[in-house]
Amino acid sequence: MSDTFEPVIGLIGGSGLYDIDGLEDRQWKRVESPWGEASDELLFGRLDGVRCVFLPRHGRGHRVPPSALNYRANIDVLKRAGVTEILSLSAVGSLNGDLEPGRFVIVDQFIDRTFARQKSFFETGCVAHVSVAHPVCPRLGDAVEEAARQIELPYKRGGTYLVMEGPQFSTKAESELYRAWGCDVIGMTNMPEAKLAREAELCYATVAMVTDFDCWHPGHDAVTVDAVVKVMLANADRAKQLVKAVIPMLGKPRGACPAGCDRALEHAIVTAPEK
Ligand code: ADE
Repeated sequence: MSDTFEPVIGLIGGSGLYDIDGLEDRQWKRVESPWGEASDELLFGRLDGVRCVFLPRHGRGHRVPPSALNYRANIDVLKRAGVTEILSLSAVGSLNGDLEPGRFVIVDQFIDRTFARQKSFFETGCVAHVSVAHPVCPRLGDAVEEAARQIELPYKRGGTYLVMEGPQFSTKAESELYRAWGCDVIGMTNMPEAKLAREAELCYATVAMVTDFDCWHPGHDAVTVDAVVKVMLANADRAKQLVKAVIPMLGKPRGACPAGCDRALEHAIVTAPEK
């Protein structure tokens, strides 16, 4: 028996990204989950022959705000659809003067400041503590970086993403605090997504697309909604190009994840339910 398999790529699209260009044999299908309703149906298809499954994080038409997303159902339906790796694309604000709107950051760390979300599949019966010391899959990060270089996208490899509860943006004091903590970008959605992907033993990476300087920036008050929307739409176009470039790399047959994302529970502290 061969130890390699053909990966199935899950794509989660954030604000401005509600579809994937060039997907063949495309079909929207509802996948049921015991965790409740996912944000939307899943879009199944093939890109360059590679099986892909797309989920618009907020639903088509952007119906679900960050705190109301059913993160567990979203990850669960992707797992049930056969997905083996997830590339999550998200609009973010910048906390770092060197990361201007339009820059793509291949995030490698998170600070989770969310407090009103279901964050684990292990809540009753069986308790499990998985490691999220390294919350993203470096293999996916390498592929995204290679694709970004290929299409000459302005990107930064590595960065810390502060995940806030929202839906309001930060106060200036909060924004300055997060900068003092060394955070690079701020958004509202990638936790608990990354934690749940790890519990589900799925490789996961975030591409954070900068739409604005957060309110710490001296020029912030002059930024108009029109300007932010314009950057967001341009980012969505380039995200589609990035996806097109990265899918053939990620779709190559592979063995086990060298970082062990697909075996996270083997190294977790797990308490079996009492009989
Ligand atoms: N998403 C896009 N810009 C953001 C910001 N400044 N803060 C939080 N989430 C964001």
